[in-house]
Amino acid sequence: MTDNPKPETDAIHAGEQEADLSVSSGDIVSPIHVATHHEMEQPGESGHGYKYSRFGNPTRESLENRLAALTGADYATAFSSGTAAIATAALALCDSGDQVVAFDGIYGGTRLLFEDLLCTKLDVQVEYVDATDLGAVKEAVTSNTSLIWVETPTNPLLKLCDLDAIAEIATRNQVRLCVDNTFATPIFQQPLDQGADLVVHSTTKYLNGHSDSTGGAVATNESALADRVAELQEYAMGNLMSPFDSYLVLRGTKTLPLRMRQHEANAAVVAEFLDEHPSVRSVHYPGLESHPQHDLASAQMDGFGGVVSAELDATDAETRAVVEELDLFRTAVSLGGVESLVDHPWSMSASFIPPEERRDAGISESLIRLPVGIEHSDDLIADLEQGLDNLRSE
Ligand SMILES: Cc1ncc(COP(=O)(O)O)c(C=O)c1O
Repeated sequence: MTDNPKPETDAIHAGEQEADLSVSSGDIVSPIHVATHHEMEQPGESGHGYKYSRFGNPTRESLENRLAALTGADYATAFSSGTAAIATAALALCDSGDQVVAFDGIYGGTRLLFEDLLCTKLDVQVEYVDATDLGAVKEAVTSNTSLIWVETPTNPLLKLCDLDAIAEIATRNQVRLCVDNTFATPIFQQPLDQGADLVVHSTTKYLNGHSDSTGGAVATNESALADRVAELQEYAMGNLMSPFDSYLVLRGTKTLPLRMRQHEANAAVVAEFLDEHPSVRSVHYPGLESHPQHDLASAQMDGFGGVVSAELDATDAETRAVVEELDLFRTAVSLGGVESLVDHPWSMSASFIPPEERRDAGISESLIRLPVGIEHSDDLIADLEQGLDNLRSE
């Protein structure tokens, strides 16, 4: 459960630049600062703290301050994508020869990144475990482990892992815990409060929320770790968020608490509808009492999220036909925008994973994933009804 019971105020005000009314037009929202370099008061002394955009930009800083407030962190750094945030966090936390223990349900793109950047380039060994099983996590940690990396809930099967318990394992073994909190968002889950050392987000998803900006963030309470992340960004990778994207995410986060509640309310209606539908074999949604980790979700999260996935009683071709039949749920990868989407992970979001690994991960041809938007739930159900009825009549 979150320590900040009132994120609505921070979502709107934290980080917003205050205008000096004697010299400015008193803008109620921070302007977009596009300058790549700033005039100095004297050589080497800028006076205002800005020199060159890679080292600091006022719009990006506004966003970083807001993200720090929302994630309960002392420091946040904004990146050009979630992937850039993950790569930089991983490099900040791992050295050559280390071992990483990772939840086997993490985003497939993170697995690819680990394989390329950590395993191949740095000779880091990544051990994937079913982190729903705490015994498996404990057993996987060795004297070489430097990092435990988890996501909860996972994509697309919405499995959870117990953050308190895993943070305890990390602390006992003096290893770092990093949580990708993209699905839950800071509104529904605060991993730093639960003992994580670092949190990453793809802001491309719910934080921006309008499907028009790619970005990421890293947040932490440790100043040395924040410095290392910033150093890697500024001097080694240059993977920072642009001023315009920073503005879009600043704007998006203002409605994040409202949007998340509506995503969740609609997801609950969709999950219940699917759960009772004769053409649906099983539904994955932590808010359903039938979800194997519903109790953990109730204790650990402040909301169950906006993504539902379901196993249809259908062949591959029939499942694809249902996806094509849906109108309001538009066929696209990604999630977290205000509009509802439908994804067929087998042929879309998980298609880059080899078929055997997809199957081992529980992703079948008859699985669909629904990032539920904030439209009227009656319209969403009507769309699902017509899509699935089509399947029954075939
Ligand atoms: C959980 C999760 N983390 C990270 C990412 C990567 O984010 P981005 O696409 O912004 O690089 C994604 C993308 O789908 C994701 O689902």
